[in-house]
Amino acid sequence: MAHVGLVGIGVMGREFALNLAEEGHSVSLLDRTLAKSEAVVDAGADLAGDLLACRDAEAFVQSLPSPRSVLVLVPSGGPLDSVIEMLSPLLEKRDLIADLGNSYYKETERRVTELEAKGLLFLGMGISGGAEGARHGPAIMAGGSEESWARVKAPLQDASAKFEDDPCCDWFGPGGSGHFIKMLHNGIEYADMQMIAEAYGLMRDGWGMDAAAIGDVFAKWMNGPLNSYLIEIAAEVARADDPKTGKAMLDMILDKAGQKGTGRWSVIEALHLGAPIGMVQAAVEARNVSADIEGRRQGAAAFGAVQQGDLGAQDAGTAALEQAMIAAKVCAYTQGFEVLRRASEAFEWCLDLAAIARVWRAGCIIRSVLLDDMSDAFAQDGARRLFFAPKFETLMKDNAEALQSVVGMAVTARIEVPALFAALSYFNASRTERSTANMIQGLRDRFGAHTFERVDAVGEKVNGPWHD
Ligand code: 6PG
Repeated sequence: MAHVGLVGIGVMGREFALNLAEEGHSVSLLDRTLAKSEAVVDAGADLAGDLLACRDAEAFVQSLPSPRSVLVLVPSGGPLDSVIEMLSPLLEKRDLIADLGNSYYKETERRVTELEAKGLLFLGMGISGGAEGARHGPAIMAGGSEESWARVKAPLQDASAKFEDDPCCDWFGPGGSGHFIKMLHNGIEYADMQMIAEAYGLMRDGWGMDAAAIGDVFAKWMNGPLNSYLIEIAAEVARADDPKTGKAMLDMILDKAGQKGTGRWSVIEALHLGAPIGMVQAAVEARNVSADIEGRRQGAAAFGAVQQGDLGAQDAGTAALEQAMIAAKVCAYTQGFEVLRRASEAFEWCLDLAAIARVWRAGCIIRSVLLDDMSDAFAQDGARRLFFAPKFETLMKDNAEALQSVVGMAVTARIEVPALFAALSYFNASRTERSTANMIQGLRDRFGAHTFERVDAVGEKVNGPWHD
């Protein structure tokens, strides 16, 4: 059994320490507030592994067997750098610091370089599943040197979620690759959540359904390909009542979405890599617009509130909506995995897309029944775009028409569905053999002599007659 250190006893740190101890591992705990560590020791008194509350960094480092492994669960950025600054002078060569926060992958690369220069090891790991996951099994995506990974692999795999006994915890490559994968996981999470919010909006504003009835539809979707953690909790959120007013809880929640940055980073990185990520972009922008409540109020006053129309028959409509959600979900994952593929090529990470899908099958926020099929699809052919794999090609063929009609209905009824719209546009663009980029090339050449290729002489750069 391992003995590791854990710094940062917030909600996630506390739960993860208890999880490790339950698996029989010993954990030295360090937090600015000793009482928080002591509370974990009390809470875990009956668990198999020892929990040790440490008064300060010196006592913490001395409590750990050499070579030391220290897990850090503090907010990314400044707080993490402060912990590294505090610990590194106390650590010895080959000791390891592992960051389990949502760090920006380039920062992780910087930390790997800086700490390796000091003879220390550094691992960047994404951990998903919220507090519940941290306690009972999160999904973990690690990146860094193989030596670092070997050090903490056993305790982390023990504590991670399992999919049919397979640990949802793996190492994917060097440097910032683990955090890049976690970032993209969150990007997909944004797209999934935005689609759910749009489905809710169609049901609320187009079919006039109340929150509980909408919750029942989500619950019904759990019987099909949409079966996933996010749909499950969407049903729970929609069906809950506000203990204060007795009204639907959802109706009492302000429509102003927060965000910490991983969705935005996913979009920025995808754009740098030249990979389409319209669905995540739509989700980030929808959150941005939602946060501008005053701006929306002014818009409604200036232009009149959107007069939302009727979406027609509810039963047929919600059935089509389920199909539209399936098609859009396949598009979101296709986009997400394509970004990972581009990153793998650009950064020479050799990412195994099947292994990534395998780790996402349980424990993480985007876990869904489709992820097992996705891992099979990439295991069969890792070079194939997801929606060309037989299972997903069939899902697209069976459901894309519903996506087309639901988006069409939503546009006509003036109900905003940016992520579903982005899915449809990505899908339609992806099957357009003759696009309109010849006009872009013509214009670029006309104003800037940027050249173009002719359809009858591909590979050759020429100018148009406007330059004669
Ligand atoms: C997870 C979540 C987790 C966190 C997000 C929320 O995988 O467990 O993604 O990391 O809840 O960072 O992100 P936003 O605050 O940006 O929605």
